[in-house]
Amino acid sequence: MVKVAVLGYGTVGSGVVQVIKDNQKYVSKKSGTDVDVKYILDLRDFPGDPYENLVTHEFDDILNDPEVSVVCETMGGVGAAYKFSKACLEAGKSVCTSNKELVAKNGPELLEIAKEHNCSYLFEASVGGGIPIIRPIMDALAAEKIESILGILNGTTNYILTKMKDEGADFDDVLKQAQDLGYAERNPEADIEGHDACRKIAILSSLMLGQTVDSEKLHTEGISKITGADFTYAKAMGKSIKLLGVSEAGENEDEVLAFVAPFMIDESHPLAMVNDVFNGIFVTGNMVGNTMYYGKGAGKLPTASAVVADVIDAARHVGKNVPCYWEGKEAKLLDFNEVSHSFFVRVKAEALGEIKSLVPGGEVVNADVPGQAGILTGEIKEKDFAAIESKLGEKILGKIRVYKEN
Ligand code: HSE
Repeated sequence: MVKVAVLGYGTVGSGVVQVIKDNQKYVSKKSGTDVDVKYILDLRDFPGDPYENLVTHEFDDILNDPEVSVVCETMGGVGAAYKFSKACLEAGKSVCTSNKELVAKNGPELLEIAKEHNCSYLFEASVGGGIPIIRPIMDALAAEKIESILGILNGTTNYILTKMKDEGADFDDVLKQAQDLGYAERNPEADIEGHDACRKIAILSSLMLGQTVDSEKLHTEGISKITGADFTYAKAMGKSIKLLGVSEAGENEDEVLAFVAPFMIDESHPLAMVNDVFNGIFVTGNMVGNTMYYGKGAGKLPTASAVVADVIDAARHVGKNVPCYWEGKEAKLLDFNEVSHSFFVRVKAEALGEIKSLVPGGEVVNADVPGQAGILTGEIKEKDFAAIESKLGEKILGKIRVYKEN
């Protein structure tokens, strides 16, 4: 018998309880033992909730109960969530989490504590919601040298970009619509400025290398500067605009180039077909070639399902550590400024000649946007393009990198 405690009865936490209860027959059978929820930790009470009798406000009830061997941390944040996760692992209780912020910040430390105390720290739900991606990288692709990971890792921004493309709507209007539908947070900064995707690509990059990639050191751009005009030009070029997390292994085993930015990608690329709140992740290995993972990257039940899959893994390994190839040693980040990209640049119409004289290549894109001109540059280093941007100032209205397959 495995008794589970759920920390935080919000969207994901209540989903975890629902998945364990509604699918208890399958969860227990696949665990090889009966699995049930014993506690729900939350500051609030939930009168009328079918599981209100399981609610406690005291973390110590869980920590001091020897019957609880698996804890689901679905609180979010890096304060109490860190403290409680650490205490549970030190007490030999496995922790399963959807908290990408905590995994990105303290993953290696918590993994090490789990190892020392013969339990596990599992985080399948922290990237890609319900899409299996952590376990494929750690287990199914364990024989590979993973060469690159490319993904649409944030559902909110993908929803916004899809609506902008399909409805010709502006960023602010779609953001408001997304908030009204409950897809985007009231404070949407972490999503729209790319920080959420950044934490996720940092976690995936760390698993790719087996060393820590610090999310706070990665170049990160969001989608708040993308406009309807960008989509008009993208359409004229047969391209779509997607916010991508990019990770490419360097020549040496401890080197990686990782960043988050919006890209124009060919309409024929499989990631261009990943729409709405869906996520899609491309993982390329040196033996297997390209593999792709697709599904609901956010939402109550998809995310909860991934947490409960970890509960099953933990239940199968009570008293043992499920190993994870991720050390605390920091990986070497390759310099983003030295990387070359081709850029789509939108300028004031009168600045077309000037930008054309400054960039390599310089193919004019015709899309009949009044007062504006579009140009596609040849490959240019980030630092060189940044110098041109400073020189032209407000004459440049926008820029988007163009994705090119290696
Ligand atoms: N805010 C995140 C998203 C939730 O939109 O993808 C899932 O991590």
